[in-house]
Amino acid sequence: MGILALILVTLSCSNVIVLSRSFVKEINVLNYGAVGDGYTDDSQAFLKAWDVTCNLEFAESANMIIPGERRFLVNPITFNGPCKLSRINVQILGTILSPQDTETWDGIDSSQWLAFRRVTGLIVDGYGTIDGRGTNWWSNSCRNSHSKDCTKMAPTAIKFIFCSNSYIKDLHFIDSANTHIGIRQSEWFHITNLKISAPETSPNTDGIHIDRSKHVFIDRSSIRSGDDCISIGDHTSDIRITNINCGPGHGISVGSLGKGGSYVQVENIRVSHVNFYQTTNGVRIKTWKGATGYARDITFEHLNFTAVQNPIVIDQYYCNKLYLGNCNSAERSATGVHISDVTYKNATGTSSTSVAIRLNCSQSTACTGILLDTIQLSLTSGRHTTHKHWHERVTSSCTNARGKTKGLIQPNIPCLLQN
Ligand SMILES: *[C@@H]1O[C@H](CO)[C@@H](O)[C@H](O)[C@H]1NC(C)=O
Ligand SMILES: *[C@@H]1O[C@H](CO)[C@@H](O)[C@H](O)[C@H]1NC(C)=O
Ligand SMILES: *[C@@H]1O[C@H](CO)[C@@H](O)[C@H](O)[C@H]1NC(C)=O
Repeated sequence: MGILALILVTLSCSNVIVLSRSFVKEINVLNYGAVGDGYTDDSQAFLKAWDVTCNLEFAESANMIIPGERRFLVNPITFNGPCKLSRINVQILGTILSPQDTETWDGIDSSQWLAFRRVTGLIVDGYGTIDGRGTNWWSNSCRNSHSKDCTKMAPTAIKFIFCSNSYIKDLHFIDSANTHIGIRQSEWFHITNLKISAPETSPNTDGIHIDRSKHVFIDRSSIRSGDDCISIGDHTSDIRITNINCGPGHGISVGSLGKGGSYVQVENIRVSHVNFYQTTNGVRIKTWKGATGYARDITFEHLNFTAVQNPIVIDQYYCNKLYLGNCNSAERSATGVHISDVTYKNATGTSSTSVAIRLNCSQSTACTGILLDTIQLSLTSGRHTTHKHWHERVTSSCTNARGKTKGLIQPNIPCLLQN
């Protein structure tokens, strides 16, 4: 109504230029040659439409439309900014399909399929689907194949690089070759109401991965995949994750941090109201052996676990010889990321293995300021039919973990050292 009133007032002054400023300009990919039959390569049409959208002036918002009931085959492309307007909307109503042939990426960056770069005020929304059609990548992944030319780097379905004050919402993501959504070097980024799904067995198909970013908020989304539902990487702060259904998959992970022994800065992470369903981990902090720096002020609360293998995990012993050479050198053992002020509060549900809480902290740099407040975990029922030594109670295990407990804690955690 406000805008309408403005238009009417402006009309009466017959100031045409001011009038046009209040319009949302629509740029439909069909008008730039896109076909949307699922076979024709629509990449150039998308790039032309983007070029017009990104260079538009004298409007409130530029709105690039990918219409519904069509399937657009799009090769690896980057939508580059900066754009002229401070509000750019990409509305995905139809389906965007990835090429199925992995050779499409021969000679080009295989870490991404679609990317937005240096766009501020970007809104990507709609009820459409982004289909990564990753099966060919999965079968040749080094996780599954020991052949010499197995794939180490498969494309992330969509990456946002240097995109601030932006959000993505309402979309469906399926079957990415690798991570579904990557957020990198971005600030004030909001992700809401997404559905992400890939088979439980698909390698490295994280739902959302964040790194080198701050002020990132993720809520009201449902994620099932073959890797972490959400993973939080190095150089991140003020990350808030709430109201998520996660599973199957590997849970929500801070890490792995400090790849190959690098310096880590992670702080102010809040994860709350998450249902974990048949995931391998629930909430996990994972750091590389030999890394340095800190991960602090991390809260996991209001968690509901159903048949989760390892509901609460800290693992500071991650190592992969591929990146670190000798994992067991004295030098590696003498350093560690300092994990501090980690709160686990109001977590209930079931563990499918007997160790429900495992805090395995670095020998050189103990975890400090761990708080466990009101935790109720038990073994998934029905396990006694397959396990000889079945106990209803689960247990906890810790190394070099310091902190305290509050309220009722099950399993109790006698291995936690006083702060
Ligand atoms: C505890 O967490 C559950 C979700 O698992 C939530 O429904 C409940 O409101 C929380 N209780 C409190 C006291 O915050
Ligand atoms: C926990 O998850 C189970 C299984 O998904 C669900 O039935 C139950 O209502 C959830 N509990 C809470 C408190 O959200
Ligand atoms: C901690 O991790 C090390 C290295 O993976 C392993 O040898 C040890 O058994 C673990 N300790 C616990 C308590 O899980």
